[in-house]
Amino acid sequence: MTKLLRSLTLVLCLLLAWSRGAAETAPLIANINARHTVSLDGQWQAIVDPYDVGALDYRAQPLKNNNAFFKNYKPQSESELVEYDFDTSGQLQVPGDWNTQRDSLLFYEGSVWYKRTFDYAQSPKNRLFVHFGACNYFAAVYLNGEELGEHEGGFTPFDFEITDRVRAHDNFLVLRVNNARGKDQVPTVNTDWWNYGGITRPVTLVEVPDTFVQDYFIQVEKGTTNQIKGWLQLNGRQPQQNVTIRIPEAGVSRTFQTDSRGRAEFSFRADLTLWSPENPKLYNVEIAAETDQATDRIGFRSIEVRGTDILLNGKPIFLRGISLHEEAPMRASRAWSDDDARTLLGWAKELGCNFVRLAHYPHNEAMLRMADQMGVLVWEEVPVYWTIQWENPGTLHNAENQLKEMIARDHNRAALIIYSVANETPVSDARNRFLRQLIQDAHSADSTRLVSAALQANGVSEGGHITIHLNDPIASDLDVLGNNEYIGWYVHRPEEADSIDWASEYGKPLIMSEFGGDALFGNHGDALARWTEEYQENLYQHQLVMLKRIPFLRGMTPWVLKDFRSPRRTLPRMEDYFNRKGLVSDHGEKKKAFFVLQKFYRELQSAPPR
Ligand code: GCU
Repeated sequence: MTKLLRSLTLVLCLLLAWSRGAAETAPLIANINARHTVSLDGQWQAIVDPYDVGALDYRAQPLKNNNAFFKNYKPQSESELVEYDFDTSGQLQVPGDWNTQRDSLLFYEGSVWYKRTFDYAQSPKNRLFVHFGACNYFAAVYLNGEELGEHEGGFTPFDFEITDRVRAHDNFLVLRVNNARGKDQVPTVNTDWWNYGGITRPVTLVEVPDTFVQDYFIQVEKGTTNQIKGWLQLNGRQPQQNVTIRIPEAGVSRTFQTDSRGRAEFSFRADLTLWSPENPKLYNVEIAAETDQATDRIGFRSIEVRGTDILLNGKPIFLRGISLHEEAPMRASRAWSDDDARTLLGWAKELGCNFVRLAHYPHNEAMLRMADQMGVLVWEEVPVYWTIQWENPGTLHNAENQLKEMIARDHNRAALIIYSVANETPVSDARNRFLRQLIQDAHSADSTRLVSAALQANGVSEGGHITIHLNDPIASDLDVLGNNEYIGWYVHRPEEADSIDWASEYGKPLIMSEFGGDALFGNHGDALARWTEEYQENLYQHQLVMLKRIPFLRGMTPWVLKDFRSPRRTLPRMEDYFNRKGLVSDHGEKKKAFFVLQKFYRELQSAPPR
C-alpha cells in the first residue's frame, strides 16, 4: 500500500474515532508522582457485563438513555425500570487484574464496568487531570455521566483533563474496561501469557497550574559522556516562559526560553557521575518554570554500539540478563507496585543479572524507576507479538501509539537502554514494512537508545553439522539483534547444542533473547525426563557451552525468571495453565537451573573485562 494511501487511511481512522465522540487522551504528564496528586486506588464498584448491555441496546445500538451504565442512574420511583445498580453490585480492587480477584473471573474476557465517587476541592486557577497507569485492553472513560474518551492498549498510561467537568462533591468516575482479544489488535488473539483484564495500574488525580511543565527529556547526548541534550514542554496559556534546569549536586543551573508552543530545546556541558549497574547514580533534577516546577530523579549514562560491541559509558559490556513477565511474585497476578518491582528485580540481581528483558509489553513505571535505583539495565518492548495484522493501517497506528506512549513515559530512565519492536514475528514484506516503521519511530522519538527485536534464525545442516544463520531482513535496520531459540526443548536434544554454530553477516551485537525449558519445581528425575528440574538444569548447561562459542554474543535473557500463567499450557500436574520455564517457581522457589545460570554469571562478573 503506498505511503500516501496509508496516510489517508490513517486520517480516516482518526476521523472515525473522533466522530464517534471519542475525545483524544490528553498529552501525557511526565512524572505524576512529583505533582500534587490524589490517589483513586482502592475498592471500586464493579459490574461484570459480558454482553455489553451497559453500552448497547438489544439491537446492538449504542444506548443513549439512562440505561447506559455510565449514567449511574437511580430509579426515581418504585415503578421505574432500571436494570443495573453499581452500589449493590460487587467490588474490585484497583489497581489489580479482575481475573485473580474472583474465581468466576479467572478466564473472563469481556467488559467490566468500574465506578468510584470522589469529592474534589480544586483551586480555581489550576487544572485537573485523571491519570491511568494502564487498563487492559480497551477503556472508555466517563465522568459525571459524560464521556471523557477512550484508550486502546493494555500497558501504557493515559490522561484525561477534567478541569471543567469536576465538581466539589459526588463526582462519579465510570470506566468500561474490555479485555476481549481481537485479530486486529496489539497483541493479536494468540499469545503465551494470561489475558489479565482490568484497571491494572494506579489511578491518580493530578492537579497542576494553568500552565505547567508537561514533559521533558534530559539525557546524555549520544556519543558523549558529558553533554546533556534534550527538551522541555510547557502546557497552558502562557507558553513563553523562562525555565531553569537545575542539578544542584552537579552545580548545574541553566535557564532557557520556551517558544510560542511552550517548547525549549537545549544542550549544555555537565560533568556528572555516570550511572551504571555498579554505581546507579541518580541526581535530583529540578525543572523550574515561572508558573510551575517539577523535580525528577534522573541518571546519566551513554549507550551505543561499536561493531559487535555494546558500550556503556564508552566501555564494552556483556548483558547478563533474564526475561520476565509482569506477574507479581507469589501472587501470580498483574504486578504493579514498588514492592513487586523490588522483589522481581531482587531475584534478577540474586541471579547475577545486570539486565532484564521486560517481556512482552511495557511493564509498570515502578519497574523502570526501581531498575534505575537498583542498577539493572532494561530492554522494554511493545506487544507486537507473533501473527499481527501487518496489512491493517489501524493495527500499525495502534502499535505506533503504544510505542510512542511507552517512550514518552520512560525516556528519562537511565536503566532503559533498548526498545524492542517485535517478538517472533513471521517474515513477510508486509511485516518488514510494519516493523521498519516502528524502528524509524523509535529512532526518531529517542536517538539515545538502541532498537532491537526478538527474531528467529534458521538452522542449516551442512554435512551433519548445524550452523544457525541470523538472516532476518530487518536485522539491517536494528542496532542490536535479538534472537529466540529453543534448542533442547522444542527442537533437538539439549546435548546437540554443544556442537551448533551461529553465523551472522551483520557485524552487530547479538542478545540471545530467549532460550530455556520447562520444569515443575520439586519434580525430580534423570536429565532425560522432561518437566524435571534435572532436565532443565542439563539444558542450561548445554546451552551455555554453545553460547560461549558465539563470537558476537553480547548478552542473553533466558526465558524466564518466574513461572507464569498461560492459557496455552494445559498439561495437568505439570502445567495447570502455567508456563514452567521459570528458574523460579510461582511460589518463589529456586529450581536447580537457577544456580547453573547464577554460577555462569558470577564467573562472567569476575572475568577480566574484554
Ligand atoms: C516464545 C515466546 C514466549 C513463550 C515462549 C515459550 O519464544 O516468545 O512468549 O512464552 O516461547 O514457548 O515458552
